[in-house]
Order: sequence, then C-alpha cells, then structure tokens
Amino acid sequence: MAPATNPMRPYLGRLTGVRDLATGIKLFQVELTEEEGRAAFANYRPGQFAFVSAFGAGEAPFGITSTPSRGPTLEFAVNALGHVTHTLHNLEEGDPVGVRGPLGNWFPLDEVRGRDIVILGGGIGGAPLRPVIHTILDHREEYGHLTILWAARSPDLLVFTDEFDDWRNAWATEVHVTVDQGDENWTGNVGLITQLLEQVNPAPENGVAITCGPPIMIHFVFLTLKKLGFAPDQMLTTLEARMHCGIGKCGRCNLGGKFVCIDGPVFWQYEISEFLEGFL
Ligand SMILES: Cc1cc2nc3c(=O)[nH]c(=O)nc-3n(C[C@H](O)[C@H](O)[C@H](O)COP(=O)(O)OP(=O)(O)OC[C@H]3O[C@@H](n4cnc5c(N)ncnc54)[C@H](O)[C@@H]3O)c2cc1C
Ligand code: FES
Repeated sequence: MAPATNPMRPYLGRLTGVRDLATGIKLFQVELTEEEGRAAFANYRPGQFAFVSAFGAGEAPFGITSTPSRGPTLEFAVNALGHVTHTLHNLEEGDPVGVRGPLGNWFPLDEVRGRDIVILGGGIGGAPLRPVIHTILDHREEYGHLTILWAARSPDLLVFTDEFDDWRNAWATEVHVTVDQGDENWTGNVGLITQLLEQVNPAPENGVAITCGPPIMIHFVFLTLKKLGFAPDQMLTTLEARMHCGIGKCGRCNLGGKFVCIDGPVFWQYEISEFLEGFL
C-alpha cells in the first residue's frame, strides 16, 4: 500500500476484460501497466476504493471488488449513472484507463477472525462486499459461520450470481437471495432484505454483520440487526459520498467531523448512526 508519489496522479492501466454483470452494471478488469502502480496496489485491502479515470471524461470513485490474493487484476463493478460512468461503459477491452489509489480504510477482517460473519449486500452494494467474501472463503478456517444475504430490486439487478454456487459450496456457508419484485422466471424469495434477515435470524452472540447498499437499506438493516440483538460494535458498513480529492484535502465528503474518504468509507454503526439519516 505504498502511497503514490503524487496522490492525485492516476496510474496507467489497460482494460483486460469488460462484461455485463447486471442490467446497467458492467465489471471492468484492469491491468496496471506501470511498475509503480502495480507496487501501490500489491496489498490493497477489502473495502478500499480507487478513482478510475476514463481519459477525456474525468474520474470517479469505485469500491475495489477484487482481492490481491486472487491475482493482480483490479476489478470494478460500475453502474452507468452519469458522465464518467457512461464513458467507462463505452470502453472496450484493450482501452487505457487510469487508476488512483488504493484509498480509504478497510473492513477489519483481522479483528473479526473467529467470529460468525453475516454479509448483507443490496444491489451494486454487493461489489465492495465481494472481496470480503473472497477473503473469508480463502481463509475459511479462520472465521466462524458465514451467512450471506444478497438482494436487489429485481432479478436482473443481482450481481455476481455466477459465484453463488462457489459461495454455497464452502464450509459452513449459507447464501440467501431475495428480490423486491420477481419476474416470470424468478422462483426464489421475494421481499426486502430486512424480512429475509428476520427469517434467517443469525445468532448475534459472537457475530459481526457487514452491510452495503443504498443508505435507506443500510439504515433499516441496522435497525433489524439491532432488533435481533446485534450491538453497534457488531455492525459495519461502507458509505458512498460525493468526492473530489479522495485524500482528505477538499472537504467534499464531510460527514459530521469525519471525511468519508480517509476516515471511511468503512464505518462501525456507532461511528455514523447520528449522521446516517442525513444520507437517506
Ligand atoms: C467510496 C465510493 C465507492 C463507490 N463505489 C462504487 C461502485 O463500486 N460502483 C459504482 O457504480 N459506483 C460507486 N460509487 C459511486 C460512483 O462514484 C458514482 O456513481 C460516480 O461518481 C458517478 O459519476 P458520473 O460522472 O458517472 O456521474 P455524474 O455525472 O457525476 O452524476 C450522475 C448522477 O449521480 C449522482 N452522483 C454522483 N456521485 C454520487 C455519489 N457518490 N453518491 C450518490 N450520487 C452520486 C449525481 O448527483 C447525479 O445525479 C462509489 C462512490 C464512492 C464515494
Ligand atoms: S473527497 Fe476530498 S476530503 Fe474527502
């Protein structure tokens, strides 16, 4: 995690893969072409983010959805929303991109070793949780029971569906999937992730829950976890905020007395509970 000489300079990279992940969401695989960039990203951690630049359009921050333990290729799940993200969606394999980072803090997976882990991902909010899942699966004996709850508004918006079988087949791991609204082919659960959470009812003793999704989902997931007996120091999330510099200089991502870009994006519930409503 050596910092770049100039933290505002993106490292040069090349797209080695682009594929559809869900409706409006693409997975971008990036190979960094500069030695300095490869060194900077050699040991990034689950939960960190990076700015990806589409040359001529600008840059935007994205959670890194890969893990260095599975290879040097960086992966980003990008929802086409505005200028930069639409430009990225028009790029193809072989095209150059810039990557600035890795930035921010990370999920304290060392601290929660030996605990039962509950992962709750909503829509593209599953992207920063995927490296958490991969890390736990790659060190399966170091963690307790793993419960994954995965949700989206509709089946076509579920991300990483091709990995569900791998996750399910791991030791002491269960995967539950739900959508707000099904379609003619959907035979699985229909309902909110909070309803599924109450049904699955994971044990709070020795548990840690990690969630990411739209702010309203995070808010209600925290409330439901509390109802099930999870304490504020047993709930983690990662937040998105409008960002400019990503390195604690511009004040754009201010949240109370904290900057999401350097104090976060990963927070315990008790660190953000009083500010979360401002995000809704
Ligand atoms: C730490 C972090 C991690 C992120 N991870 C991902 C990810 O994994 N995948 C992903 O697709 N997106 C992610 N985002 C959001 C992503 O950065 C924005 O969608 C992106 O900046 C939009 O850029 P744009 O130029 O395409 O859109 P713009 O043209 O800038 O904006 C389009 C619309 O999106 C709104 N918008 C822009 N940025 C944000 C934001 N941060 N939060 C809410 N609304 C916003 C604008 O107000 C506008 O309505 C993350 C953001 C942060 C801060
Ligand atoms: S984005 Fe500039 S201070 Fe956080």
